[in-house]
Amino acid sequence: MNAGILGVGKYVPERVLTNFDLEKMMETSDEWIRTRTGIEERRIARDDEYTHDMAYEAAKKAIENAGLTPDDIDLFIVATVTQESTFPSVGNIIQDRLGAKNAAAMDVEAACSGFTYGVVTASQFIQTGAYKHIVVIGADKLSKITDWDDRSTAVLFGDGAGAVVMGPVADDKGLLSFVLGSDGSGGKYLNLKEENDKLYMNGREVFRFAVRKMGDASMQVLEKAGLEKEDLDLLIPHQANIRIMEASRERLGLPEEKLMRTVHKYGNTSSSSIALALIDAVEEGRVHDGDNLLLVGFGAGLTWGALVLRWGK
Ligand code: UT7
Repeated sequence: MNAGILGVGKYVPERVLTNFDLEKMMETSDEWIRTRTGIEERRIARDDEYTHDMAYEAAKKAIENAGLTPDDIDLFIVATVTQESTFPSVGNIIQDRLGAKNAAAMDVEAACSGFTYGVVTASQFIQTGAYKHIVVIGADKLSKITDWDDRSTAVLFGDGAGAVVMGPVADDKGLLSFVLGSDGSGGKYLNLKEENDKLYMNGREVFRFAVRKMGDASMQVLEKAGLEKEDLDLLIPHQANIRIMEASRERLGLPEEKLMRTVHKYGNTSSSSIALALIDAVEEGRVHDGDNLLLVGFGAGLTWGALVLRWGK
């Protein structure tokens, strides 16, 4: 039994924070941010709007979109690094709010690679026949852990949530291959400082790591899936920086129109980034039955994850 995507749903906060707004808050410029990262604006959650609120909205829409009800869900997997509490998990909170009484729930922490880890984990339960319907959510409120006094990171991040319902699909559809990885020796380059609960990043080191790992992992999943570069219909990378995304596209030799970009409007939304990009691609009509999609991410850990997914039921 292969595992694929049956429905999608997203939530982004209403408040838009543009590069021009940031110019008024710190020593930066729209020009610097746009040319170094590709970001033009990002969404920022309200103070009283939490990761679990965004995850709930996204999950609710995805379940409806799949033509299911909360009772049909066997498991919630939430990828996040910005849960309000270490426990209960975001998964527990939304399982209860949705009244999904038949579902188990857990969170997965792999930072910006988290959504790929979640999709791969869900697929294992579905492929074995243990579970039928699993909601995988990427949700993060990075504004909460952003150090607003550090212009080298503050301009990069945004908030949002994206959810997919996964379930059994035809043998030639769904997850075709995956690679997940960890190099904890790089933890020093990107972490949450315990003293002040704010994100620290060495941008140059993470940039170098990202270009290498995104490229390597993409080539590996392509080979594992038995596909050639030309067979790919859409590359959906972690939306951290347009220069990193372009490097992956070039390594795969893909034309520009095969790269999905949302970084200009959401910035880097960590665990939700790949989910939001996938969902926008679906909503914009860029994903068709039988298309081969390559999802690839990297993040704190350091972690990476890539997978090839053939769209359709
Ligand atoms: O999800 C994973 C998260 N991490 C990432 O994806 C980040 C990966 N890294 C990056 O995307 C890039 O390294 C950055 C966008 C963070 C930085 O770009 P860069 O080309 O590596 O810039 P840099 O760190 O080498 O800094 C260049 C200059 C510095 O000035 P000097 O020393 O050359 O005079 C910085 O002080 O840009 C300056 N700078 C800024 N200037 C205006 C740093 N941040 C800003 C800013 N506005 N916001």
